Amino acid sequence: MRTTGKVLVYLSIGIFIAIGLLLSYVKIALPDVAKSKNLKIEYTPARIQRGEYLANHVSLCVDCHSTRDWSKLSGPIFPDSKGVGGELFDETHGLPGKYYSPNITPYQLSNWTDGEIVRAVTTGVSKNGNALFPIMPYTHFREMDQEDIYSIISYIRTLPSQKSTVLASVSNFPMNFIINTIPVEADMKSMPSTNNKIAYGKYLVNAAACSECHSKKEKGENIKGLEFSGGNQFNMPGGIVITTANITPDTETGIGKWSKQDFLNRFIAYRDIALNPKIVSKTDFQTVMPWTMYSGMNDNDLEAIYLYLKTNKPVKNKVITFALE
Ligand code: HEC
Ligand code: HEC
Repeated sequence: MRTTGKVLVYLSIGIFIAIGLLLSYVKIALPDVAKSKNLKIEYTPARIQRGEYLANHVSLCVDCHSTRDWSKLSGPIFPDSKGVGGELFDETHGLPGKYYSPNITPYQLSNWTDGEIVRAVTTGVSKNGNALFPIMPYTHFREMDQEDIYSIISYIRTLPSQKSTVLASVSNFPMNFIINTIPVEADMKSMPSTNNKIAYGKYLVNAAACSECHSKKEKGENIKGLEFSGGNQFNMPGGIVITTANITPDTETGIGKWSKQDFLNRFIAYRDIALNPKIVSKTDFQTVMPWTMYSGMNDNDLEAIYLYLKTNKPVKNKVITFALE
């Protein structure tokens, strides 16, 4: 008996040491991505213009890195807050911690090289080497065209420099360890020709990270077979529960019966609302779908997105998108 006892003690000590070593490895040696490139992007007018379009209407950098006005439909940004950050993404969105969007105006980024911004946005590693939480969809941005990433950076360099104080993000246990294993090297792909509408639509859906909200996840990965079928919940103040819609081509519970024009119209309706934001009362329909910003996408891009979504597998999943508890 006594020997068995001793063996157990040694075994537990061994296991403790092994776990300790593993955790120190994860904390100290990871994230393991290459140093940022020594890079100076040429901020041409064409790049700034393309970047403005992508950052405001497709990849929504500006949506997350500004302050949003939730007294209005779909939470448009306060116009003077472009890039100042401070939005909180936390447990009420089902996240394993509290993540604040940093200031991305020159106030914060002027001492970052272009290479450091490219690395942060496409691999999830900040200037100081810390891992970022993938609420910022770098797991999508890593597959964008390098030229588009350069354009976005050219544009954010033009944002008015504004001071703001943003709290540091905190991951709960065990995400404070796991987070270091998430960043991987970028895998930039060239943008398909806009004539190849389905491939181009797929590129946009990735760049806009639609699946981050519209696909159910398990341990950070989309659940296979349920992509784009919705069902993720957001608990809003006032007992409002918003659930993401099924945007697979299922005819009863998805967008299977929608014509291209039906699809476009849903976005186009928000172009007016973007100009004249609509105040919502406590019981009015409210949504986290960033309609206001996406509505600035041009019709050709929206059409390509529609055509791509129609090629996905239909999934039956009835969703009530808006409910009061
Ligand atoms: C869904 C919201 C969201 C979107 C979209 C988004 N970000 Fe972020 N971003 C964040 C959050 C939150 C963090 C901080 C994450 C953390 O602290 O772990 C962050 C971090 C960053 C950082 C690192 C800053 C620092 O001080 O460490 C940069 C740079 C950045 N984002 C730029 C961008 C750009 C450029 C885009 C568009 C291509 C973009 N972000 C899109 C939410 C977002
Ligand atoms: C921040 C989360 C979020 C992102 C990102 C997002 N959506 Fe949504 N979306 C929602 C929610 C929540 C709803 C349901 C409420 C509503 O209709 O506004 C919704 C509704 C929709 C609807 C209406 C479906 C219906 O049955 O009425 C369409 C179409 C749609 N989204 C397409 C997209 C596309 C395309 C993208 C990417 C370009 C996208 N969404 C990105 C959250 C999101």
